[in-house]
Amino acid sequence: MKVQHLYTDLARYYDFLVSRSVNTEIELQFLEKILSQNKVKSVLDVGCGSGRHSIPLAQKNYQVLGMDNSAELLELARSKAHSLNIQWIYGDAATATLPIKVDAAICMWSTINEMPIDAVAENLCKLIKPKGLLILDNSYIADHIRGKPKDTRFSIDVPEWGVVDVNIVDKVKSEQRTRSVSYKIGHNIINDDITSEVLSEDELESVMNAHGFTLSQIFYDYQSHKPESPRRFQTVFINNPLRKGHSKPDREQDHSA
Ligand SMILES: C[S@@+](CC[C@H](N)C(=O)[O-])C[C@H]1O[C@@H](n2cnc3c(N)ncnc32)[C@H](O)[C@@H]1O
Repeated sequence: MKVQHLYTDLARYYDFLVSRSVNTEIELQFLEKILSQNKVKSVLDVGCGSGRHSIPLAQKNYQVLGMDNSAELLELARSKAHSLNIQWIYGDAATATLPIKVDAAICMWSTINEMPIDAVAENLCKLIKPKGLLILDNSYIADHIRGKPKDTRFSIDVPEWGVVDVNIVDKVKSEQRTRSVSYKIGHNIINDDITSEVLSEDELESVMNAHGFTLSQIFYDYQSHKPESPRRFQTVFINNPLRKGHSKPDREQDHSA
């Protein structure tokens, strides 16, 4: 099963599963801080899912474009956005075009790791204005590299659907992670394997450098300082299309968050 089929099957449960897994409020605070510091007005949400970042950013008057290749999730996002002026784009992040070049793109919840990263980086370089930002939210890979991926299992009774059993098992082979996901929601059983790239911070920086992006800031768990066991890292890149293929430049470290 391909990833977008998984999201098709999961669309009606997506917001419930999100609410069990991530803290959207903290992520939005993080995003808004960077976007406002950089005077960003237009934002592309790459792999926007059900719009959990697109919609609140549009409510804060950003010009938002939400892109996804799951028609079901886009429809869900659209239905929640009501009269907000968001441009929803059904397309593949590796090839899609936009009506405008944006000041910034965001790609949240490790979505970049599920995508063909080289092709997506190459395309984003064209979609983001020169000197524009790319904010990537990545799962932290240290546990995987040490061979101790954390599995996720929980079971919860939801009146609307019955018992929801979630079972996520990570297997890591060199730079590839296969995440076997299994959801039993009432009588509905959804199983899939998602293969994603497992890139260290340095590896990610090298890939993005090759496509003209320069690392500007790195954050851990939505703060600057690296805790002992970070679960994720967030990177802010600047689009310098003319610098394609350059090796690592000096980076600006932010310790103010
Ligand atoms: C882990 S979900 C994250 C969704 C959203 N960013 C969030 O944080 O809730 C990954 C999303 O990326 C979308 N996606 C995966 N591959 C894609 C691609 N090549 N082009 C566009 N969207 C893609 C999926 O349909 C899904 O909505």
